[in-house]
Amino acid sequence: CGIVGYLGKRDVTRFLIEGLHRLEYRGYDSAGIAVGKDGQISVRKKTGRVGELAALVDTSPVSGTVGIGHTRWATHGEPNDSNSHPHIGGDGSLVLVHNGVIENYSTLKQQLSQLGYRFESETDTEVVAHLMAHHLAEQVKLGSDPTDVETCLAAIELTLKKLKGTYGVAVLFRDCPDTLIAARNGSPLVLGIGDDEFFIASDSSPLIGYTDEVVYLADHEIAVLNAEGMQVIHRDSGRQAPNIQTLNQVSADIDLGEYEHYMLKEIFEQPTTIENAMRGRLNYDEATAIFGGLNLSSQQLRQIDRIVLTACGTSWHAALVGEYLIEEFARIPVEVEYASELRYRNPPMSDQTMVFAITQSGETADTLAAMKECKRKGHTTMAICNVVGSTIAREADGGIYLHAGPEIGVASTKAFTSQVTVLTLLALYLGRMRHLSYSAGQNIIRKLKDIPKQVEKALECHEAVKTIAEKYASMNNFLYLGRLYNFPVALEGALKLKEISYIHAEGYPAAEMKHGPIALVDEQTPSVFIVPRCGIYPKVISNLQEVKARKGPVIAIACEGDDRVAELADDVIYVPDVDECLQPLVASIPLQLLAYHIAILRDCNVDRPRNLAKSVTVE
Ligand code: G6P
Repeated sequence: CGIVGYLGKRDVTRFLIEGLHRLEYRGYDSAGIAVGKDGQISVRKKTGRVGELAALVDTSPVSGTVGIGHTRWATHGEPNDSNSHPHIGGDGSLVLVHNGVIENYSTLKQQLSQLGYRFESETDTEVVAHLMAHHLAEQVKLGSDPTDVETCLAAIELTLKKLKGTYGVAVLFRDCPDTLIAARNGSPLVLGIGDDEFFIASDSSPLIGYTDEVVYLADHEIAVLNAEGMQVIHRDSGRQAPNIQTLNQVSADIDLGEYEHYMLKEIFEQPTTIENAMRGRLNYDEATAIFGGLNLSSQQLRQIDRIVLTACGTSWHAALVGEYLIEEFARIPVEVEYASELRYRNPPMSDQTMVFAITQSGETADTLAAMKECKRKGHTTMAICNVVGSTIAREADGGIYLHAGPEIGVASTKAFTSQVTVLTLLALYLGRMRHLSYSAGQNIIRKLKDIPKQVEKALECHEAVKTIAEKYASMNNFLYLGRLYNFPVALEGALKLKEISYIHAEGYPAAEMKHGPIALVDEQTPSVFIVPRCGIYPKVISNLQEVKARKGPVIAIACEGDDRVAELADDVIYVPDVDECLQPLVASIPLQLLAYHIAILRDCNVDRPRNLAKSVTVE
């Protein structure tokens, strides 16, 4: 979910709606705003995208100079108008928006119901709203003045003490109209400081173009914003001097250009984004890579005896490629962990285990939590991340940015190939501190430098893929099969298809397929085989024949000039012949395009697929 807030001199609606648009990647099930004016708070909220909220606000306008907004990714309760945020507390004494998950909400809900509070929604957020309203009412009963900020603050503090779980909240109080209060525990909030105005957002993107002075709220901090300025109060240490930082971002390039969808645009950006991931990071003379942000001495890097790569979704697939690369080049044992598992597991990790969190957005809640857990246990944690200044990038001890530019399509494409590129550089770098020879290092660099051109060539399969997509778009089950470096590519190909076309697809190691998935093979179940030239090419060909023998249609991704595959497969998509360890970078391209075209043919919303969010900021 995404939160915005504003207090100042301009009319708030435009900032709120524009900010929510920029935060829509965090969820787009429903959206809403609350605007305060003359002691009245007006709420507008609606199921669906921010665009639908904007249309509602056009027909039913609100205006004021203080307000909050929210775009939701449903956790508790289906996406409908009443479950949308903002939520009203008590009889309307306050209105709030919330990102996160309140784990003890049902106990609190029961207690509040017994006190007579009525619930309009199934959300955990409404529980927070009523609980806060309840504490506010109690304070007033004890003689506190509801127009006094201190009374509101006391109500918030009493409420937060009772919450178990994560939250970023922003609250408007009816009787204390020119004040905006925000609090965080586990869900990020950034405060922007303008000229007699303040901004709140879940990340800095809504602030771009408004201010470059920001304060990142820490866990257990509350921020009070009003005409007197900004106050930051920590639960344990009381009032804090806000740590003001400068935002170094330019307005994001979010123009679609000649493309119909962001996903297609981002697929075609890959020759450039891969190049950007390598820019300034290759040292041919030393046959190694250069990283400016690891913040570690070569001594420390040489002592690493194990690496844990943790991530979710597509980033997890990139991690799998990373495992193969690092183990091969640097011979350091690597473990790839789903962040959602790692955060609650307690695997044995030596003191010299280094943890890399891999994440496009830098905001994924599970990845952040896994990283924090490892940090708590004393491990050095690094981020491989696209979004500069994101929570994970800031929490890590150091890291490597992807420099892929904003990725807007919910299904990740260019971030994946940038992650794989950076992991290749990392493997080279760690390898050159250990076993990898000078000439092997130079060889990798030479091949890497060619990759943007090869990806450009791989994109030439676009028309061929479109035709193949037409042939298979009506099928309801797909298998994606590959081995070694192309096994994670198979997983990623299947995920792309699932995410945007809602077709069931499974990725498998091509040889493992005979231990189960082969039972699915029939004339209606195509298998996408990633079978470029490699050391075990004949073995993959045998696997392909096993599928053909059972009448399964085969779409092969093969190297240019491979006539053998053309004889066996029903359809072939050719990609340039590159080194085995670099094949994921070219083989992913036709799979991204295949998913894209099938989704278009099935009339799906490729940029905003149902039920998904670009960045999952809840557990
Ligand atoms: C969501 C997105 C995926 C993404 C995953 C991890 O599920 O829909 O595309 O791979 O989160 O996101 P991250 O930003 O951490 O890479």
